[in-house]
Amino acid sequence: ASFLCERDRRFVLETLINGLQRMEYRGYDSAGLSIEGDEPDQPFIFKEVGKVAHLKEKCMTAAIDMDRSYVSQTSIAHTRWATHGVPSTTNCHPHTSDPMKEFTVVHNGIITNCALSVDKELRLVLEKRGFKFETDTDTEVAAVLAKYLYDSQKGKQISFTSLIKSVIMELEGAFAFVFKSVHYPDEVVVARRGSPVLIGVKTEKKLKVDFVDVEFAGAADAEKALNEDAAPGAANGLLGVPSAANPQGGKLVRSQSRAFLSEDGMPQPIEFFIASDASAIVEHTKRVLYLEDDDIAHIAEGEFHIHRLRKNDGTVSTIRAIETLEIELAAIMKGSFDHFMQKEIYEQPESVVNTMRGRVNFDTHTITLGGLKAYLHVIRRCRRLVFVACGTSYHSCLATRSIFEELTEIPVSIELASDFLDRKTPIFRDDVCVFVSQSGETADTILAMRYCLERGALNVGVVNVVGSTISRESHCGIHVNAGPEIGVASTKAYTSQYIALVMMAIQLSEDRLSMTARRNAIIDGLHELPGQIRAILQHDKEFQALAPMLAKQTSLLIMGRGYQHATCLEAALKIKELAYLMAEGILAGELKHGPLALIDADMPVILLMTQDSIYAKTRSALEQVSARGGRPLIIANDNDTTIDDSRYSVIRVPQTIDCLQGILTIVPLQLLSYHLAVAKGCNVDMPRNLAKSVTVE
Ligand code: G6P
Repeated sequence: ASFLCERDRRFVLETLINGLQRMEYRGYDSAGLSIEGDEPDQPFIFKEVGKVAHLKEKCMTAAIDMDRSYVSQTSIAHTRWATHGVPSTTNCHPHTSDPMKEFTVVHNGIITNCALSVDKELRLVLEKRGFKFETDTDTEVAAVLAKYLYDSQKGKQISFTSLIKSVIMELEGAFAFVFKSVHYPDEVVVARRGSPVLIGVKTEKKLKVDFVDVEFAGAADAEKALNEDAAPGAANGLLGVPSAANPQGGKLVRSQSRAFLSEDGMPQPIEFFIASDASAIVEHTKRVLYLEDDDIAHIAEGEFHIHRLRKNDGTVSTIRAIETLEIELAAIMKGSFDHFMQKEIYEQPESVVNTMRGRVNFDTHTITLGGLKAYLHVIRRCRRLVFVACGTSYHSCLATRSIFEELTEIPVSIELASDFLDRKTPIFRDDVCVFVSQSGETADTILAMRYCLERGALNVGVVNVVGSTISRESHCGIHVNAGPEIGVASTKAYTSQYIALVMMAIQLSEDRLSMTARRNAIIDGLHELPGQIRAILQHDKEFQALAPMLAKQTSLLIMGRGYQHATCLEAALKIKELAYLMAEGILAGELKHGPLALIDADMPVILLMTQDSIYAKTRSALEQVSARGGRPLIIANDNDTTIDDSRYSVIRVPQTIDCLQGILTIVPLQLLSYHLAVAKGCNVDMPRNLAKSVTVE
């Protein structure tokens, strides 16, 4: 946060800690912050492993004057999820360049050219020049590099922005950085490549402009800029280290935005809030500006400028507009629920409506997805639909594959983003690639999207978070509109993704008359869904009652086939991530090819047996399991009278059309996994070792 208004230290600390707490849902292992010290060149830095609450305790009980007030100040804070170096207070951010804390930095992402093992990597090069490293992190390299460049500039005036530009030119990997320095008091530089970052603006006065105009220098200016503005190393290829990020040996192109002023000029009270997620700042301001890759933002004296690292090649807009966030603070608060996950499961009757709102006309049986409109003809003509996603989002693709194939008759392939990249999968200009992601910030999915872009495919984003990288960088797409999802384990985003994809399949097939009856039946099914989900939630107590028995088990098999296979995989993922129980989702058709060997009277099994065209085949899985002494817990439709309730435990769900049934079968399993996690005393909203949004590869 950067304040140009009178604020005391207590206020600043509370603002930072509150912001960190709003981001807790993303998963982290340690937290730290830096605020103004008693002397201008001696910032206070606090760090703690574990909960933000520990950091808060440490700060609030520190022997510092909480009432000390500043007219202008900048402070930074961070929650860390370890990529380089174990979770520890040493490795926790903010990182400093040296014991005098000349440069302080926080970083979200991963810098890939600082590994110790590789010759000529940045860290080794800096060590050879006498710099000492305190931590095992990649981030510290950025701070030390800033100091090295600053020192080598001694005597010359270099702006903070130019200095950080030269630092960024040397780095490979993904990052969102916030830099502070005792040499540039009350200034902040923010840089982005690959990791999300937004800047919120709060002022009592009306803003003079609601956009920032990014100027790009021409070629002639570039040379001039090099002479005037660049750090010395940068012009010649800093340190002699060639890097992919810096192919031209560190040429800097100077570019600058217009000043961002409030209506009647500066200075006047204004606050800037910088965060990687809107939920951290929404209680302060809803007016935000998202940075693009290679943007460098500079905030000082109440002004806000954006510079570009590279010359404009026409692919990036020169305008950064201030947008108004639509999320409400209440939407990210737990309310009367014990956990965010529980709240989000219970929100599904409304969140599925939000996904359909304004898009489905139940009277005329039509669907209009505005975000795809301009591209429908291209998508319909494509040679292949390639779905790419990770985790739960991947399961929503699996769940809807069959309806895409049936309605559109376009070949469909479904890819896990990491594996898709590992294989360097062939992609062609006439492919349509669909990237499904709750956060829109999952690094693997983003990289896969850029890979497809390079190969000329049409990229469609299906995301929940508005303004996220995938929503901005795809050609077109669908917002799933499930609302903010805070629990690390995805629930309402899954059901909304599922519906968004079904709607897409319907819209793609609307020119196929032969499919009219089928489409109408699905749209009727969509209409019933909210009420049916509500009915399932009313049986929560029964699902809860099953948890203590299952909590004693060490493993669990979840079986089904056809439309229910995705539910099996998604339920197994929920149980693994939340209750740390070895759960496996099995395609019932594969039972006899191996998993049957696991079955005996003691192996817990859940069998999904809903009434669809392959019901008879699923029934034979029940026979196979029963014949070996297994007593599966069955999930069946409430009108299925053929299952002997005295012989099996049965969870009943309403029947809907086959391709939507998976939305109703996952709900009891979400609740079961939730209760299992509670019964086992696990951290429901933040399972160990996991993060909500995995912004590293
Ligand atoms: C992480 C989360 C999962 C999520 C996956 C994909 O692993 O813990 O819950 O399904 O990322 O996230 P995305 O935001 O791309 O849907």
